[in-house]
Amino acid sequence: MANRAVINADRSIGRIDRNIYGHFAEHLGRCIYEGIWVGEDSDIPNTQGIRNDVLQALQGLNIPVLRWPGGCFADEYHWKDGIGPRETRKRMINTHWGGVVENNHFGTHEFLLLCELLGCEPYINGNVGSGTVQEMQEWVEYMTFDGESPMAALRAAGGREKPWKVSYFGVGNENWGCGGNMRPEYYADEYRRYQTYVRNYGDNKIFRIACGASDFNYDWTEVLMREAAKHMDGLTLHYYTIPLEWSAKGSATDFDAKVWFETLRKALVMDDLVAKHKTIMDKYDPAKRISLIVDEWGTWYDVEPGTNPGFLFQQNTMRDALVAAATLHIFHKHSDRVRMANIAQTVNVLQAVVLTEGGKMTLTPTYHVFEMFKVHHDAELLDLAFEAAPYTVDGISIPQTSVSASRAKDGSLHISLCNLSHDQEATLSFELRGLAADAAPIRGTLLQGDALSAHNTVDQPDRVRTVPFDGAVRQEDGTIQATLPAASVAVLRIG
Ligand code: AHR
Repeated sequence: MANRAVINADRSIGRIDRNIYGHFAEHLGRCIYEGIWVGEDSDIPNTQGIRNDVLQALQGLNIPVLRWPGGCFADEYHWKDGIGPRETRKRMINTHWGGVVENNHFGTHEFLLLCELLGCEPYINGNVGSGTVQEMQEWVEYMTFDGESPMAALRAAGGREKPWKVSYFGVGNENWGCGGNMRPEYYADEYRRYQTYVRNYGDNKIFRIACGASDFNYDWTEVLMREAAKHMDGLTLHYYTIPLEWSAKGSATDFDAKVWFETLRKALVMDDLVAKHKTIMDKYDPAKRISLIVDEWGTWYDVEPGTNPGFLFQQNTMRDALVAAATLHIFHKHSDRVRMANIAQTVNVLQAVVLTEGGKMTLTPTYHVFEMFKVHHDAELLDLAFEAAPYTVDGISIPQTSVSASRAKDGSLHISLCNLSHDQEATLSFELRGLAADAAPIRGTLLQGDALSAHNTVDQPDRVRTVPFDGAVRQEDGTIQATLPAASVAVLRIG
């Protein structure tokens, strides 16, 4: 069977919210400390404590939204410990992640500075598990109140007169687990109470996000929608791609074709998962006012040998690039409800886009996918019918290819495609309807490794990188035929 698509280039079926390309940075391992924050006195060149090389790399992705401070850390975080002179900030134990000392040097001011430097929206995750309603209310007041108030005065004393704009606020994280082991009925009530005090001050309008389900926990979504829908703007979903099992997840770099296949098969589960959670949401919110926010997703492997098991540091190969591309396509497809997603996590943790080693840094294959797919940010999602050839291993099949098409504001058309097969090239043919583009130039970019486990290191930073793609050719009948190497991702620009 061939890989064939018909794209109605003149029919938009929605907008791909740029927030689908969001990121997540937790106080976990070397994500914040060392990965982003090195402090003003560091030998590593920095801007007010934020390392310049990582900042520049992240600026290259046009990150739309960044979630912080957790994760599980969020429900143990007390924001007042992270303000004021750094040398006097409270030192605490990061119990979830390695039991290391958290010196609170990266707090509210530092995070919001990072967002300003990145030009992205902050998504703050508040503490329900071990925090109080008052603490949450005061945090919002501290960040956003413009006028005379105790928290605005405290902010000014900390060196920031003007309030920040904070659009997204999460009321707890994984409250069915690390965020308090609550039952959905209990959390729904707690959510209703806490969010009451997450106030809109002046013209700062907060998008309130309730903690949603993990994986296949449809009951959680059902109860939250039934009991609290009218109080929320977004409901979250967490799903990680774990190739083997929780207790032995598999290596990030040492895997065979079977595990490659299994990883991609599990990544594609996101499609069904999102569809089912959406169906429940549709029952209570047919107008689709509430967004489904997949604020944790990505691959989760065993940590790199010799590293702290609590730091979740893993390498990132072409397999991760394929997981990223196929998952982003799934989010496009569900963009009527999925309006934000945050890959876990930005630097040095899980499926990171950047890895650091001392003063050096490298970009991962996942980074390159996010860079290539920037063309889809806020673009019109085009109507597409696609038939994929099967990719079969041990009698189990998944689609060999995945495709998504969008039109940017400047009128140009972009088609992103990936070939999931570990060893077979894929020929895809596209019939473009509603586009007088016979003469329009086709340009392309390709991401391909020299092995399935190809990855970048600080000593070999360009082993996996993008190159121009010339494998897409217009046929005499007007269709476009693209031949994609095995295990690769490409983006075509037409026009
Ligand atoms: O991303 C790592 C952890 O995974 C997060 O802290 C938590 O929310 C999830 O279980």
